[in-house]
Amino acid sequence: MSDTVAENVRQFAVFGHPVAHSLSPRIHQAFARQQGMTITYRAIDVAPADLAAALAQFAASGGMGANITLPHKEAAFALCAARSDRAARCGSVNTLTRVGDRWHGDITDGAGLVRDLTERQQFDLRGRRTLLLGAGGAARGVAPALFDAGIAELVIVNRSPERADALADALGDPRRAHSRYWNDLGTLGEFDLLINATSAGRAGGTLELPFSLIGPRALAVDLNYGEIAVPFLAWAESGGCNKRSDGLGMLVEQAAESFAIWTGKRPSTEAIFDELSQQARALHTAD
Ligand code: ATR
Repeated sequence: MSDTVAENVRQFAVFGHPVAHSLSPRIHQAFARQQGMTITYRAIDVAPADLAAALAQFAASGGMGANITLPHKEAAFALCAARSDRAARCGSVNTLTRVGDRWHGDITDGAGLVRDLTERQQFDLRGRRTLLLGAGGAARGVAPALFDAGIAELVIVNRSPERADALADALGDPRRAHSRYWNDLGTLGEFDLLINATSAGRAGGTLELPFSLIGPRALAVDLNYGEIAVPFLAWAESGGCNKRSDGLGMLVEQAAESFAIWTGKRPSTEAIFDELSQQARALHTAD
């Protein structure tokens, strides 16, 4: 690799398994063009057992920054020599920066979600009663940022209740964050913000959810994007929820935050977001 890349070209990559579908190379190349930089940004498919070796090889060949996606976010956290406070709170990383001969880890997912909701969608998070469905990696990656953005209450509901308990405990504010049983969803009342952070759609599954969860001006967000987000957002629409979005905005915003960490330059996200959402709409209507 190093002998084929000019020395002044910064090298980045996203590590995942699978990762061929990742939009990150396209998003980061768009940011780089906008900033007048030349970068390489590869998608590297690596099995969990090979992550450490693959990251070491990438660093040895001049890699200076890496995004980490499923299923490696927790494993990469363990491989970092230093971690941001927000990464420590989530127990996972999605952004690695090479500093000397070590990786520094950060997580930009939560900040990306908050920026998408508050700036792109103009949804004021302060005081909102929020339902978080799921307590896996995706949920843990966004919960602290939502909390810090001033939501009034975070109710965490997970199929396996002990993971919801653990996430609520980790947030360290029992008055604002608590776990509830999936079977009790019908008794929890209305929410202003409903977030699907489960991976059910990825496995082709659907969630059984009561419409009573949807408050009058609620926003429903699926952290997945594209087809995978359709069942949850269709449920929200059937329940009369007018504000709905998938995770494409969060994806673009978390990428912008990573790019800013690596380069010190915050890119504008509008053009690439519009391009990707138009493409997604075209795919959808072509079905
Ligand atoms: P990710 O990194 O995408 O969050 P994960 O850590 O494996 O992946 O977590 C998947 C989440 O989706 C979990 O909250 C999981 O619930 P369990 O902890 O009970 O496994 C949730 N999930 C997956 N399939 C689901 C389904 N069919 N119904 C409800 N929740 C589901």
